[in-house]
Amino acid sequence: MEYSNNVTVFDHPLIQHKLSILRNVDTPSKQFRELVEEITMLMCYESMRDLPLEDIDVKTPMGIAHSKHLKGVKLAVVPILRAGIGMVDGVLNLVPAARVGHIGLYRDEKTLEPHEYYCKLPKNIDKRLIIVTDPMLATGGSAVDAIKLIKERGGKHIKFMCIIAAPEGIKALTEAHPDVEVYCAHVDDKLNEIGYIVPGLGDAGDRIFGTK
Ligand code: PRP
Ligand code: URA
Repeated sequence: MEYSNNVTVFDHPLIQHKLSILRNVDTPSKQFRELVEEITMLMCYESMRDLPLEDIDVKTPMGIAHSKHLKGVKLAVVPILRAGIGMVDGVLNLVPAARVGHIGLYRDEKTLEPHEYYCKLPKNIDKRLIIVTDPMLATGGSAVDAIKLIKERGGKHIKFMCIIAAPEGIKALTEAHPDVEVYCAHVDDKLNEIGYIVPGLGDAGDRIFGTK
């Protein structure tokens, strides 16, 4: 499958290895949560390659080092509830000063349409780099709506980070929001008749929170 330039699929061996354990039906919730966090951290590290740097002189015990530091980037991580919460610490481990917003959406099990029930974003959202997290991009309805809500509130520079995507979700998201950079660990085969990703990993929210 050909993706738009805005889609990055991480083929790093560590990510792929961890993803295999994550998919396994026998992986318990505790390990599942840890893996979601670890995979997010690795993806976050890679996805921040384009952050702007500026020169800084640092006094070391031996002299002056002509060094670099991040140039005033303000970050917001915005999980799509519930399952996106599992990815937040993976981002915060690397960028502890990031602010955290929340968007509550659930998919109607029959229509698969997303329904909003909560939205609280950090101040100055228009000036922040926003990382929207959700482990699963299935039909794409939730991601498309969440990003629409963020844009309506002023968000401009948005990256969407998921772990597994369906081709249908990638298509819907890149068509609705061509300006958003999309990152995932794998693009799976397809959706089944009830909108689950196949082979996927099942229900991410239930596996993170142990609700099934
Ligand atoms: C899951 C998942 C995404 C959404 C993906 O959430 O975490 O948010 O489905 O599906 P879509 O791309 O077809 O919209 P769900 O609605 O099951 O809620 P949960 O996170 O509370 O389990
Ligand atoms: N949501 C999930 O948690 N899993 C899927 O496969 C699709 C949507």
